Amino acid sequence: MRKLAAGNWKMNGTAASLTEVSALAQAHPAPACDMLLCPPATLIARMADVAKGTPVMIGGQDCHAKSSGAHTGDISAEMLLDSGASHVILGHSERRTDHAETDAQVLAKAEAAIKAGLIAIVCIGETEAERDAGRTLDVVGTQLHGSVPADATAATLVIAYEPVWAIGTGRTPTLAEIAEVHAFLRTRLTARIGVQAAGVRLLYGGSVKPSNATEIFAIPHVDGALVGGASLKAADFGAIVAALSAA
Ligand code: 13P
Repeated sequence: MRKLAAGNWKMNGTAASLTEVSALAQAHPAPACDMLLCPPATLIARMADVAKGTPVMIGGQDCHAKSSGAHTGDISAEMLLDSGASHVILGHSERRTDHAETDAQVLAKAEAAIKAGLIAIVCIGETEAERDAGRTLDVVGTQLHGSVPADATAATLVIAYEPVWAIGTGRTPTLAEIAEVHAFLRTRLTARIGVQAAGVRLLYGGSVKPSNATEIFAIPHVDGALVGGASLKAADFGAIVAALSAA
């Protein structure tokens, strides 16, 4: 399968940041992996313009489950597609925390995204308290079952495993811990969507940097990364793309 280096810009970036996209595209004109940047909604259309004709793909960070209507401040999957996005991140832990998103809501959003023609990147991950209590597999298994559409395929779904305590902290699980979760997710995803699970990219996210990317990408069932802070600069994200291309 073709691996995926995805960048989540979160609530960062203005027009001045678009030079990072052209720099990334120039440095990696033909990478051996897919490259995706998910900027704030205000930048999607402009970033898509800059990325046109390059291997850089563009994604959103959330969408509403409905295609249109009276939902002030929200954006539909159709609107993301219309703006030039091909992917959308759903159920990120920051949205699960800041906006109290439930598995059922993430599932509805993922169904809407896929129906609109987007690739849904569904995020799951345990808190530190849940890991300390030995509940990691329980938690991610429940999230996966509750937020992944049963009819998703390798072409419409990506899963991102992001331990909440590893996001933006500089801390990561051990390589063995990541390996355990990713192998478990492959098995549980097979139970949920069947044979298509073998081709679904399973991304690791949480403090991925140029300095730890190579060892993380060597782990079985790690098919790429969802990168936060290190995706904001073309040099850092490009180094992660290079590590994934070499894996
Ligand atoms: P960091 O790479 O900044 O830890 O963020 C990870 C993340 O939340 C990506 O969605």
